[in-house]
Amino acid sequence: MATVDALLRDAVERLRRSGSDTARLDAEVLLAAVLGVDRTGVIAHPEAPVGDGAAARFAEALVRREAGEPVAYLRGVKEVLGLAFASDARALIPRPETERLVELAEAEITRRLVEGPREGGEPPLRVVDVGTGSGAIAVALAVRLRRRRMLDEVDILATDDAPDALELARENAVGHAVGDRARFRAADLVPGDEAPFDLVLANLPYVRTDVLATLPVATSFEPRHALDGGHDGLAVIRRLLALLPDVLAERGVALLEIGADQEAGILAAVTEMPGRWTGVVERDLAGLPRVARIKRVERIEP
Ligand SMILES: C[S@@+](CC[C@H](N)C(=O)[O-])C[C@H]1O[C@@H](n2cnc3c(N)ncnc32)[C@H](O)[C@@H]1O
Repeated sequence: MATVDALLRDAVERLRRSGSDTARLDAEVLLAAVLGVDRTGVIAHPEAPVGDGAAARFAEALVRREAGEPVAYLRGVKEVLGLAFASDARALIPRPETERLVELAEAEITRRLVEGPREGGEPPLRVVDVGTGSGAIAVALAVRLRRRRMLDEVDILATDDAPDALELARENAVGHAVGDRARFRAADLVPGDEAPFDLVLANLPYVRTDVLATLPVATSFEPRHALDGGHDGLAVIRRLLALLPDVLAERGVALLEIGADQEAGILAAVTEMPGRWTGVVERDLAGLPRVARIKRVERIEP
């Protein structure tokens, strides 16, 4: 029977040859997933024997990883803000960058609920996650608001125009016990019949079409529709901006994830919106532009 160490050494060698920059990590994570333990369990027990069935499943995963398939799809899981999300080819693998959007949304909701005097009987804050994919934003937000005991005061709608993605998002909501606390709806961007929203959240496709072919091969396993943002990467986001005057409440805020090179582009797009709108771009922990915060210019009462 092969040991953990022998399987890992062989796998690392193969994955390096296939071009993976993270061969050791990939091998450890995949073997741990096959064995049903966490990665430290694999690292701590190099001498442990691995049964033939598990070794065969590991071999299958390796072949797929050698072909470039992302580790998250092979494991079937991706962590977002410490929460495990089911992940497969139905939707984009949630990226760490998106955690910033969830944190900003949570802070915005908390501020509104704590600062704005709510005397009871008021309708819940209305939040929409546009292009929810695996449900990462809507579900992580719901879980974090539940921890703060604020979930009852918020109504969360999540939309996507890809029915497969919505199915995965619903599964993730159920997996995190918020299946009855967020609604999932097939729609092109935002359904106008549910407006107005206090918060519009979106991580829509923002990769420039000409850049798609240059991305790592793992990306080619993800739905192209989830990535392709048109000629300047902002085509879908611009369509959402055009809807904001109709779907955002008077004092509402939109938080939109953008690429690190799109700060000037999104701010220019905001100046083209009808009416008076203002945009600022929030940075991520690496100091990169990451989330555009867009709202109406506030009227100063005489
Ligand atoms: C970049 S992925 C983000 C998924 C998820 N929000 C996340 O952060 O991991 C973009 C998502 O937007 C969806 N999408 C693209 N165009 C859309 C449209 N016009 N209306 C609704 N959803 C759209 C895609 O199907 C995909 O799930």
